[in-house]
Amino acid sequence: MSALATESVEEKILSRKWFYEFKLPSGRKTEMYIPRAMAEIHDTRLSMLFSVLDPMFEGRWQETSCLDIASHEGFFASRMAARGCREVLGLDARPEHVTHATWIKEAYGYNNLSFQVADVRTINAETSTPADIVVMFGLIYHLENPVQALHLAAKLTKKVCLVETQVTPNISGMADWGACHAKKEMLGTFTIIDEMAETDRPEASVSGISLCPSKEAVMWLMRRFGFSRVEVVAPPLLGYEQLVSGNRIIVAGYKD
Ligand SMILES: C[S@@+](CC[C@H](N)C(=O)[O-])C[C@H]1O[C@@H](n2cnc3c(N)ncnc32)[C@H](O)[C@@H]1O
Repeated sequence: MSALATESVEEKILSRKWFYEFKLPSGRKTEMYIPRAMAEIHDTRLSMLFSVLDPMFEGRWQETSCLDIASHEGFFASRMAARGCREVLGLDARPEHVTHATWIKEAYGYNNLSFQVADVRTINAETSTPADIVVMFGLIYHLENPVQALHLAAKLTKKVCLVETQVTPNISGMADWGACHAKKEMLGTFTIIDEMAETDRPEASVSGISLCPSKEAVMWLMRRFGFSRVEVVAPPLLGYEQLVSGNRIIVAGYKD
């Protein structure tokens, strides 16, 4: 892309407000529509993401593929492209996010980055190409069926999958199962969250009913879906409060 074309993409980018702060090639930065204090979440998540990926892929980024499910404006996908991944594909259900993420790709001139509209509820794992790294941040607590999304992510992961989610309290113990003397262990919990009044919010659920998991639910399901090792990623000491308190977690599932 010529310098003139890059400048005109930047003008387009700078004419709107963004969920993330992007530092553009010219050095100019996007204005955010969220408060700066809240945007710290993105820095904390980036540092947690690369605390897992850098030791695994250092020196091998060029052989590595990445799928970012729910890629929004392409913040995490573009950082993966900047690391030098062979190819990064970002998917999001909202076409406007895909348009904006594509502006970001164009501004940076990343040939290893692309975005497509895709709803996680209808992605077919059998006809999709698996990736070494699957990133699924900020999505499953916006879904009616987070179990299906976790199963899909597991099927599409070749090496490591990073799932970031808010979590709600767990209930453990035994539940009556058909008769009071027959019991089943409660392995994890999901909480109903009503997002029906917010479906036009760019970050929210597209359907309105969301099931937010407990940490135990996410970890049990990821093990069940074939990850040989499932670990909660440690947050930095001075990170964003939700990640530091454990009300939001990043879980890494490895296929060793
Ligand atoms: C909270 S934002 C998270 C964005 C980004 N992954 C991050 O962590 O910053 C939720 C994203 O999920 C997308 N989304 C919601 N429902 C979806 C679905 N059924 N399929 C694909 N994307 C969806 C939204 O459009 C939005 O980009």
